Amino acid sequence: MHRLKKTVVMIGMMGSGKTAVGTALARALGVPFIDSDHEIERASTLSIPEIFERHGEPFFRDREAEVIARLLDGEPGILSTGGGAFMSERNRQTISERGVALWIRADAELLWTRVRHKDTRPLLRTPDPKATLLEFIEKRDPVYALADLVVDAEPGISIEEMAQKSIGV
Ligand code: S3P
Repeated sequence: MHRLKKTVVMIGMMGSGKTAVGTALARALGVPFIDSDHEIERASTLSIPEIFERHGEPFFRDREAEVIARLLDGEPGILSTGGGAFMSERNRQTISERGVALWIRADAELLWTRVRHKDTRPLLRTPDPKATLLEFIEKRDPVYALADLVVDAEPGISIEEMAQKSIGV
């Protein structure tokens, strides 16, 4: 059993592997793993696409900020967040006060191969999802770069190796 002083908050683009690496980290450290999107879905009994459809993105962002603040008040563990969470100054403030941000950095081609066949991301339901993804990457990467820690999602690297490289477990 490991004693983390602060929660490690996984940040990065959709498809970067926050949940997979976060789960491996939590297992290696023997600490709880929580996913903010799952918490939002559980509380609202709706899927993320349904929340976007019925209530809109601003509603989702409010729930996201509440859930992140609440989860960072709990026992330290690994918290995976949705790709847009770190774009909010309010969330960055909460995370810097009570957690450590770990960015899973991945390049556009890798992200695209992972998200192209899935229809679970409402923000990519556009006429040209690849162009949309590239726009998000351009806008978000400089903000993700404010993270405390970074690990590269290199093609071929295993989840365990990434967990190992990220915080040395
Ligand atoms: C979003 C990413 C999704 C989810 C929502 C919005 C984003 O999470 O929170 O669809 O703004 O990038 P993942 O990063 O886990 O796909």
